[in-house]
Amino acid sequence: MQRPSFADLPAADLDADQLEAVIRYHDHRYHDLDDAEIPDQVYDALVRRLAALRPTSAVLAAIGGGDGTADGERIEHRAPMLSLDKCYGFTELMEWAKDGTLVLRASPKIDGAAVSIRYDGTGRFELAATRGDGRRGEDIGRNVRRIPGVPAQLPTELLGDAPIEVRGEVYMPLSAFAEVAELFANPRNVAAGALKAKESGGVPPESLRFFAYDLLGVEVASEAEKTERLHALGFTPAPSQTCSAGASEAVFTHWEQRRAALDYETDGVVFKIDDVATQRRLGVTGHHPRFAIAWKFQGDSGESRLVGVEWSVSRTGTITPVALVEPVALSGATISRATLHNLSNVERLTLRIGDTLLLTRRGGVIPHVEGSRGGGDAEIVPPAACPGCGAATEVRSSMRRVAGEDVETRTLHCSAPGDCPPVLRAQLFHYTAALEIDGFGPKILDALLAAGLLHDAADLYRLRPEALLVLPRMAETSANKLVAQVAARRQVPLPTFLVALGIETLGRHAAQLLASRYTLAELRALPREELAAIHSLGELTAERIADGLQDAGPLIDRLLHHVEIVRDAPAAATGGALAGEVVVFTGKLERMGRRDAQQLVTRMGGVAGSSVTAETTLLVVGGDELTADPPSSKLKKARKLAEANGTLKIVAEADFFDEVQGDAS
Ligand code: IVH
Repeated sequence: MQRPSFADLPAADLDADQLEAVIRYHDHRYHDLDDAEIPDQVYDALVRRLAALRPTSAVLAAIGGGDGTADGERIEHRAPMLSLDKCYGFTELMEWAKDGTLVLRASPKIDGAAVSIRYDGTGRFELAATRGDGRRGEDIGRNVRRIPGVPAQLPTELLGDAPIEVRGEVYMPLSAFAEVAELFANPRNVAAGALKAKESGGVPPESLRFFAYDLLGVEVASEAEKTERLHALGFTPAPSQTCSAGASEAVFTHWEQRRAALDYETDGVVFKIDDVATQRRLGVTGHHPRFAIAWKFQGDSGESRLVGVEWSVSRTGTITPVALVEPVALSGATISRATLHNLSNVERLTLRIGDTLLLTRRGGVIPHVEGSRGGGDAEIVPPAACPGCGAATEVRSSMRRVAGEDVETRTLHCSAPGDCPPVLRAQLFHYTAALEIDGFGPKILDALLAAGLLHDAADLYRLRPEALLVLPRMAETSANKLVAQVAARRQVPLPTFLVALGIETLGRHAAQLLASRYTLAELRALPREELAAIHSLGELTAERIADGLQDAGPLIDRLLHHVEIVRDAPAAATGGALAGEVVVFTGKLERMGRRDAQQLVTRMGGVAGSSVTAETTLLVVGGDELTADPPSSKLKKARKLAEANGTLKIVAEADFFDEVQGDAS
């Protein structure tokens, strides 16, 4: 085994691939040649660093170290958890399928962690395990139980007496990952880490989700029927549709195009032969089943030269470095910028202007700097003055626990965010967007700030049409409309208000959780320790929320002169009755307005969609539209999808509200 050229660099300078190579090399020296080159402490540092960057690394599994995998109790799988055969094009897929009329079930390949969950003969959650080496996995039942949408008890009337097993993918929604993105390499690592975590304090399992794709111990004739059963048992099946092998290309393209709009990462489309009897006949190899194949999306990585760093001022006054690169085509788009998150990350990547960067698009979407091949010379110097207002900048340091390691993160800040125009503009933009106050685009906000009419969100409520008329190109009707828009949003549900404050890490998930437990006054008076003790929030998030609420104190006081906080029904955001559901409304609703109905869905842990897509799980039809002839286009589309895809249900408005409102009270 050859010595890697980078073997002398300190652990902190190596990326995960390099660490794996170096650790393999030192293992070989130690075990095979009995001739260790480095002291144990240095070796341990390499392993710890790899565990932080890639907790799921096969190298860690092989040496039995890393994130504690070796200590976890091992669980023997009843049937091996196999891998998937893969291909990269229609020709290859047809070589596998052989027959264009073969009926397949297609579902996006979710980039998460494979999990097996077992229920006993009475439908009780028994245990959950990671895939491990395919034969034996690690016991992760304690954490899997806490994932919203994983039932603790299955409906007994749907079961025989035999135990059943559900397999699927645990993933972190991208909307939740966004709140911790700067700390972790990718959502898959976060999910894997959170599943295996033995202590609380990291990312809570409540922020993960589970897509079921397999059901063992229940006789079904087809994959389509399996999907229906999983749904009836209370799981969220991975989105799927039936198609012929000949139509697989259209399905593949469909998912490739939708990829950017999904709330989870996908790396391809899984095609399975729909008929279970045929599946049995074909059987498995030691590595993968013969009846399934993953058609992978094309690679999303490329290289480009770093031509500069832009320092961009955020809503919170943090100044974020953004890499400016020579335009490069990556998965169908031209990339010229990628966030570098913070100072520590720039240092970790040892970047210099002129370096050749390795770029990927996370989830095929967000440009991400994976590493540098070097080659540059000019040093990157953080600005001493804020690019937004010229005030001095300051460096702040915080310690966070990432995959069991204490990691220091250094960030750059504007020292006068209260007077910094880009900060104010971003805060106001965020506030109006969160409250769905229309009309306040960046141009109008800039004009209002320049005219001295706005200093914070509370000033929005003081705007008068006459004053707005001084703005360039502002006509009377638009001025009236803007003011009316603001006035119409004086009643604000607590979760929306909390999100609108723009506190870092206080996103929709956390806001709903907090609003389900406290009033605003209670929340503001809450001792830090109590906030930090909320299990499903995570320590890190709780800390930042506590700081944020305190800093926002004066703004909250000013806002309360103008807005009335309306308390939501106390349905828990996580594990709410609609957790895992994507609900779309059509037709004129009789019980309540569309917006209120959508808010109800959100309060009950569901997602309110605006159009019917393959993601939709529930279409709620208002009035007498169910019997309308011809049916509306939404309904027509939903019926088609429901036929192809067992996850979509169509219900009448009255049934839906009876059910969920019964649940909420
Ligand atoms: S079907 C043999 N459907 O991909 C297992 N798997 O690379 C057949 N995966 O370990 C499973 N999304 O965890 C199936 N929609 C999907 C999937 C999916 C992700 C994972 C699965 C498996 C891995 C194989």
